[in-house]
Amino acid sequence: MDPAAITAEHAARVGASDPLLPAPGRLREGTRLSVDRGEAVTWFQHLPVGLAARTWEPARTHRLDVRLAGEDRAGTLGALLDQWLDLIKDTVAPGDTDSAAVVELPSRDTEAVSALVHRGFVPSSVLAVRQTGRGGQAGAPGVRIRAATADDLAVATELNLTVVRFDAPFGKITPRESTEEVLRNQLVFLLNQPEPLVWLAERDHRVVGIVHIQLPPVSDWAGRSVAAAAAGYLGCLGVVESERGGGIGAALAAHAHAVLDAAGLPVTLLHHALANPYSTPFWYSVGYRPLWTTWIRRPAFG
Ligand SMILES: CC(C)(COP(=O)(O)OP(=O)(O)OC[C@H]1O[C@@H](n2cnc3c(N)ncnc32)[C@H](O)[C@@H]1OP(=O)(O)O)[C@@H](O)C(=O)NCCC(=O)NCCS
Repeated sequence: MDPAAITAEHAARVGASDPLLPAPGRLREGTRLSVDRGEAVTWFQHLPVGLAARTWEPARTHRLDVRLAGEDRAGTLGALLDQWLDLIKDTVAPGDTDSAAVVELPSRDTEAVSALVHRGFVPSSVLAVRQTGRGGQAGAPGVRIRAATADDLAVATELNLTVVRFDAPFGKITPRESTEEVLRNQLVFLLNQPEPLVWLAERDHRVVGIVHIQLPPVSDWAGRSVAAAAAGYLGCLGVVESERGGGIGAALAAHAHAVLDAAGLPVTLLHHALANPYSTPFWYSVGYRPLWTTWIRRPAFG
């Protein structure tokens, strides 16, 4: 089957599965793989020590982007995965837990995912989307929500670091020596914007939770993953352990959503770890649903 026909069939199926997915573009530059009804490209991403992105990704990542056609898409994806894993095997030290093989798929294009399961990949994280107005109203948990200021930098950084540490065991993000500084720098950037983008929940003058967001153009890096005119991005939500389950997270999310909706943004995006037993049910109860699912094998080879 010729590559253009594979891409066209892939695009039609994926578009029908989810109207919020952008039309798949041409495969990016990289090493091409091809089977009868499938095309893929692979590329390697090395994040050296000191790079801020190292918190969010494994240090050494082989990625695969696929286009699938035909009826037996699990078989087609399996053949592409086998070619790919053969190709990269000798470049990865066995047991290197800072190496990963990563495939991101439209969440609702599910037929082929058994090929990943059978090769030891797990669905580690989701880029979730919320359309404006979705999600119920928050209750009244008896907290005050206020915009953070530069004086709150230390407590905001600590809360953000707690969220990163909490999410780390689920396989995608990795606390590094630089993580605290990376989060502090990001918060300084957000706190320096003209409009409030970071809020804290306070009970009895004690900070008990944080939420922060990005608006376009800062959030455009995420907005490219959704078929919408513009997208906001919710970067972090965390509640101190002793206060969880009392509605503070819902109140912080509702506050952030009101700001995002008032800004006229049709959608908000966020990443969450799929196996996190707090965040996954929480986000789906406040109006999100999966858009892209990241499948990971870490280490890339055992
Ligand atoms: C995810 C997290 C931010 C949610 O915050 P939270 O304050 O625990 O969440 P809430 O209390 O608002 O909601 C949790 C539950 O309490 C319930 N709840 C209790 N009182 C409530 C009230 N007054 N209003 C709304 N919900 C209330 C909710 O219905 C929900 O119940 P459910 O789990 O049966 O759906 C928090 O658990 C957390 O910090 N987890 C660790 C870090 C993390 O995972 N962060 C997210 C990374 S993406």
